[in-house]
Amino acid sequence: MPHHSLEAHEELAVLDELLVDLAPDAEHLLPFLHRVQERLGHVSPAAIRYAAHAFNLSRAEVFGVVTFYGDFREARAGDTVVQLCMAEACQAVGCRELAAHAERSLGVPLGTTTGDGRLHLEAVYCLGNCALGPSVRIADDIHGRVTAAVFDRLVAMAATTRSIP
Ligand code: FES
Repeated sequence: MPHHSLEAHEELAVLDELLVDLAPDAEHLLPFLHRVQERLGHVSPAAIRYAAHAFNLSRAEVFGVVTFYGDFREARAGDTVVQLCMAEACQAVGCRELAAHAERSLGVPLGTTTGDGRLHLEAVYCLGNCALGPSVRIADDIHGRVTAAVFDRLVAMAATTRSIP
């Protein structure tokens, strides 16, 4: 089922509604994330921030849960997710500059989706590829030592080879 992209304030209202009968205990995090996934079709970075605040957890903890369970999508169905590692080891080899390039190149800030809805650009904290940073994950593939030129090539390839579900 297609899910429409919601404005930030609409998403917030939906999240409030989904949270309303859940006590703020960490044990309710999973049920909450399931509701979010079911209602919105994905668990967005904004929803992760929201859940962290609601359940008094760090964003990394909530993000860990979302990525650990295969049930959750981090982006709208149909998007190709482009994740830039912004953790320490990648910072030491220029991931900030790469992120700035990625934002310029795609014309959107981190944490958002391109206007055509095809690519969702987001920051993550460690892709487990620390020795080969800067690391970027595009869909299911992790790429190491990504330069600006390589990034543009990978993104162009992802845009053309993406299979239409
Ligand atoms: S710090 Fe970037 S992959 Fe681990």
